[in-house]
Amino acid sequence: MTTRIMGTGSCLPQTVVTNDDLAKIMDTSDEWIRTRTGIRERRLAKEETTSFMCCEAALRALEDAGMSGEEIELIIVGTLTGDYVTPSTACEVQAKIGAKRAVAFDVNAACSGFLFALHIAHAYLQAGIYQNALILGAETLSKIMDWSDRSTCVLFGDGAGAAVLKRDERGVLSFDMGCDGAKGHVLSCKGRPNNNPLVSHPTEPEFVHMDGQEVYKFAVGRVPKSIQSVLAQSGMDAGDISWFVLHQANIRILQSVAKRLGVSEEKFPISLDHCGNISAASVPILLDEMNQKGMLKRGDKIVLSGFGGGLSWGSVLLEW
Ligand code: ACO
Repeated sequence: MTTRIMGTGSCLPQTVVTNDDLAKIMDTSDEWIRTRTGIRERRLAKEETTSFMCCEAALRALEDAGMSGEEIELIIVGTLTGDYVTPSTACEVQAKIGAKRAVAFDVNAACSGFLFALHIAHAYLQAGIYQNALILGAETLSKIMDWSDRSTCVLFGDGAGAAVLKRDERGVLSFDMGCDGAKGHVLSCKGRPNNNPLVSHPTEPEFVHMDGQEVYKFAVGRVPKSIQSVLAQSGMDAGDISWFVLHQANIRILQSVAKRLGVSEEKFPISLDHCGNISAASVPILLDEMNQKGMLKRGDKIVLSGFGGGLSWGSVLLEW
């Protein structure tokens, strides 16, 4: 038995922030952002919280799957930016969607978070411990950005995506997961400040720090290898795949991965132009957009791939 995606859902905050909007508050331009990243606009959570967007995405995914919250047995949220340190975002979702039976917890694997959630849920379902799961990737990255650092804050957006999974005879075919903790410093964000009066601490900003060029090198080197690994495990080649649904970090990363795999860029759908980079939420939001547009046909072979902070990466090959 394996794991099948039965339904998808997503939620973006109301407020649209264009590149021109950013150019009014910092020294940047639409031309710089578009040509280097492919991003035109992103969404900013003003009123919406991470858990609110998760619940909206979850309810839409449940509706798409024809299931209710009460039926769900497991909830996993990939996020760096939950509303609280505790309770977890997954526990907030459990309460709000009435999933009384569900075990719920978060995972922190940055931009790979949705893939890690899928991998964990798959292990539970394959083992027969649970029959179904709700997995999400969700971020309110705008609250951990350094808005005085134009080289990072223009790249990111807020939002949530969800998928309902079921134990089934077809679905997931192969995974490739990995981490390189020794390179963690190239994309990092410090935790909460300590106000313990018995310990003296220098006060440092607790915002995202990124060495963009090192992240770029990591992504274009690692992601094609990870995708080739899931293809090889399933005895397929890139030509057998209908869609490559990648983490939406930067258009140039997608183009480079397509080139290295020898695949047309048309097989790499894009949401970063209107969403920016939403870390763990990128892959499920894009998957939901494709699902809503009717781009996914039963039997299609699809690769999902996430990569980013940790450093971490994860790819899956599945039959829709
Ligand atoms: N607007 C205008 N100018 C800017 C901006 C901006 N928003 N940001 C940086 N610049 C300037 C810099 O100050 C620098 O100016 P200088 O030459 O006078 O010093 C110049 O542009 C070039 O800066 P670089 O950082 O070298 O720009 P680069 O061409 O490397 O592009 C980018 C930066 C887009 C981040 C690139 O490194 C990249 O694509 N990295 C991939 C990483 C990525 O996509 N990360 C996303 C998050 S990680 C993840 O999701 C996996």
